[in-house]
Amino acid sequence: MEIEFKWIDTEEALFEQVQTHRWINLLQPLGISFDYLENPNDQRPNSFHLVALKDDKVVGSCSLFHVEGSDRAKFYQMSVKKEFRGKGVGKKIILEMIRTLKEDQKIKTKNKLFEKKLNVLYCHGLQFAIGFYERLNFKKVGEMFVEEGYEHYKMEYDLNL
Ligand SMILES: CC(C)(COP(=O)(O)OP(=O)(O)OC[C@H]1O[C@@H](n2cnc3c(N)ncnc32)[C@H](O)[C@@H]1OP(=O)(O)O)[C@@H](O)C(=O)NCCC(=O)NCCS
Repeated sequence: MEIEFKWIDTEEALFEQVQTHRWINLLQPLGISFDYLENPNDQRPNSFHLVALKDDKVVGSCSLFHVEGSDRAKFYQMSVKKEFRGKGVGKKIILEMIRTLKEDQKIKTKNKLFEKKLNVLYCHGLQFAIGFYERLNFKKVGEMFVEEGYEHYKMEYDLNL
């Protein structure tokens, strides 16, 4: 399937579509309140969104921020549109995120440029998505914890692999 990738920042028009996508495909099914769309991470100086587009429509997205003062980036709100799941789109999003951080070592959007070599990419993975991250060589770190009422594990990927 032909998927186009685009890094955007929170100020770009396409971000509104990302918010709608996250709501329909991640937050609403989990019963997470609409206010959660106002994710404070989106307002961080070094936050970015990787958007997967098919025929100019958002079919997946993943947001990421640099953890200030560290060699780490955390991604959040990873989601693929329901009708597109199980077709390798999620895998392509994660691989593109890893490729950007490893090879480009910079993220450039309309309004922002982030340039730094990072060593670790991680997320708080929902228990039922852990197998997905493990397939992509992420490793569980630490014990299970509850966030937003759901079981999670911290999942880490070594960018020097
Ligand atoms: C989890 C999610 C992002 C996966 O995206 P996807 O496009 O369906 O996944 P892919 O088709 O790229 O799957 C890649 C591989 O992971 C496996 N996989 C996918 N979801 C899995 C899961 N929940 N558990 C175990 N393995 C899984 C696939 O079988 C595939 O394996 P293969 O490479 O051996 O064929 C998607 O199901 C989704 O958006 N879920 C709802 C939101 C969500 O839970 N997000 C995670 C937040 S932490």
